[in-house]
Amino acid sequence: MPKVLVIGGAGYIGSHVVKELLEGGYDTLVFDDLSTGQEVNLFKEAGFVRGNILDRKALDAVMSQNVDAVVHLAGKKAVGESMENPQKYAENNINGSINILNSMVDNGVKHIVFSSSAAVYGTPQYLPLDEKHPLNPVNFYGFSKMEVENLMEWYSRLKDFNYIALRYFNAVGYAADKSITGREKNPQNLLPIIMEAATGKRDGFAIFGSDYETPDGTCLRDYIHVSDLASAHVAAIHRLMSDKKSYRLNLGTGKAVSVKEIVDATENVIGKRLNYRYAARRPGDPAVVVAKADLAREVLNWRPRYTDIEEIIRTVWNLEL
Ligand code: UFG
Repeated sequence: MPKVLVIGGAGYIGSHVVKELLEGGYDTLVFDDLSTGQEVNLFKEAGFVRGNILDRKALDAVMSQNVDAVVHLAGKKAVGESMENPQKYAENNINGSINILNSMVDNGVKHIVFSSSAAVYGTPQYLPLDEKHPLNPVNFYGFSKMEVENLMEWYSRLKDFNYIALRYFNAVGYAADKSITGREKNPQNLLPIIMEAATGKRDGFAIFGSDYETPDGTCLRDYIHVSDLASAHVAAIHRLMSDKKSYRLNLGTGKAVSVKEIVDATENVIGKRLNYRYAARRPGDPAVVVAKADLAREVLNWRPRYTDIEEIIRTVWNLEL
């Protein structure tokens, strides 16, 4: 079976990718500096090397071990922080990715699946967002993802190299078999924050904005289960190895769910009321972000299995039971 190097494989999405790769029979090696990734997320069936993507020698040492394909998920992802400290995102997300790409080329590794984001589009000019939508990121995080996509595009033209950039919409949930238990520290995203309130780790939370032009006044997003994201990575590796082409693909469900619907669904799942209040809009939040998600289905021959938001939330709540 092909050997896959998962950079950032101890993180929230990375660990789910590792699980799917192992289940698909891939020889899997994780490279992670454990800065946000967690040791509890490592699978004993996969190899593990602790290292940082800014360390070119450490990267070369793993890349030279007959690696067939790379999955790169080692990015910083706090949107607010990227606006206050762009240097950190330039260094980790852009320089770190250049190191990975150069190490791949120098070691003859030809295929990469890259963890990109819907943040490359910026404020939607039309909906749903298809892959032809102009790229106009409104935060430095999104800019860093766009830059790496563009670098990969040039490398694919100049070298024996192909890539699939997966533009994640809102990743949520945990593997249903509870094999991955590491929760993110200081979560910035809606559902992990709600879960902290549900488990008493925080007193409550705020819904940012109640006066958007949406049916219930709260923002609409496209929430996709992390196991579905993960299985798309395995399909992407398969595609890259059987095809010379490169792709940039949205990974979403195409279904819009409001913040209020997430809160209500969580209350249903946990069987109790949550303590929350309505607060001002969060700067930079578009009212609606939803994917046109057909291209990934076609190119990867893949479908998200989870469509029901309560079922998705249950996979998170089950970790507490
Ligand atoms: N929200 C709240 N209260 C909170 C946290 C979030 O009401 O405490 C709301 C937000 O205002 C937004 C929705 O919940 O309307 C989802 O917010 P998240 O922060 O979970 O996710 P975003 O849609 O803002 O961000 C996601 C990814 C980013 C990516 C971005 C753009 O997490 O990585 O989509 O596509 F950059």
